[in-house]
Amino acid sequence: MTRIAYVNGKYCDHDLAHVHIEDRGYQFADGVYEVFAVLNKKIVDYDDHLKRLYRSLNEIKVKSPICKDAFLFIIRNLIRKNNVTNGLIYLQVTRGVAERDFKFPKNTKPSLIITSKKTSMDDYFSKFKKGIKVKITDDLRWKRVDIKTLNLLPPVLAKQKAIENGCDEAWMLDSEGFITEGSSSNAWILIKNKLITTPASNSILKGITRLSLIKALKKKKINLVEKKFNINDIKNADEAFITSATQFVMPVVKVDNIKIGKGKIGNYANIFKDAYMEAIQLK
Ligand code: PDD
Repeated sequence: MTRIAYVNGKYCDHDLAHVHIEDRGYQFADGVYEVFAVLNKKIVDYDDHLKRLYRSLNEIKVKSPICKDAFLFIIRNLIRKNNVTNGLIYLQVTRGVAERDFKFPKNTKPSLIITSKKTSMDDYFSKFKKGIKVKITDDLRWKRVDIKTLNLLPPVLAKQKAIENGCDEAWMLDSEGFITEGSSSNAWILIKNKLITTPASNSILKGITRLSLIKALKKKKINLVEKKFNINDIKNADEAFITSATQFVMPVVKVDNIKIGKGKIGNYANIFKDAYMEAIQLK
């Protein structure tokens, strides 16, 4: 069966789907996006992702091209049409198509594309068992990374550096030597039963997976602190993790040359993953 994408009101063949060369997303990264996980044909934490999408749109002053209920309808259609059991939904809204000019165009309709992709939970679980390696890089991003914009060149370069160094993810350092977050995930360390993650501010994306894990761990009375951490803290960490819609909770076993714990996933990895999986809302 052909893979189907949604582009500005139409369902079309994914391979032939296209937007105009003067779409402002293409020329200025003038748009925002969301990534939703799909588990068992259901959307994970849909309401929180949609809320963040509307916040991002509001911050960049773009009006939603469709009404709120229509998003759920289209995403469900795509899951069905593409027979996605487990996978990801990518949703992007840009300011629309207009002759290239920095100022906002007048009377331009925002563009909306939504795509879906299948992923394998077996792949996730086998990656989870081994854990991932992380490379430290500088955080070269702008000052409003709390908005989920298309402006992704710094994280692209950070991730590529990680890959070239045999790692799976980059943890980015701010000018004071604190880890802000991963190139496409939030960062966590565990020191002596205390779980630490960077506090939400304009300097990190407030991950929906992060939010769900925090809610889940509060119920389980896990000792959690939202505070900045640096490389010295990582050296003292017994375990480390990343969270994102694409990786759920994923243990980290090495950061640069620092082995976390014994270089193998620790006891809390499964506890946190299971708590997260229990806490998610499926729609
Ligand atoms: N990225 N921080 C950054 C910089 C991210 O890009 C992401 C997600 C997260 C985690 O957010 P969430 O838990 O809501 O997925 C944190 C998505 C998955 C991406 O760009 O592909």
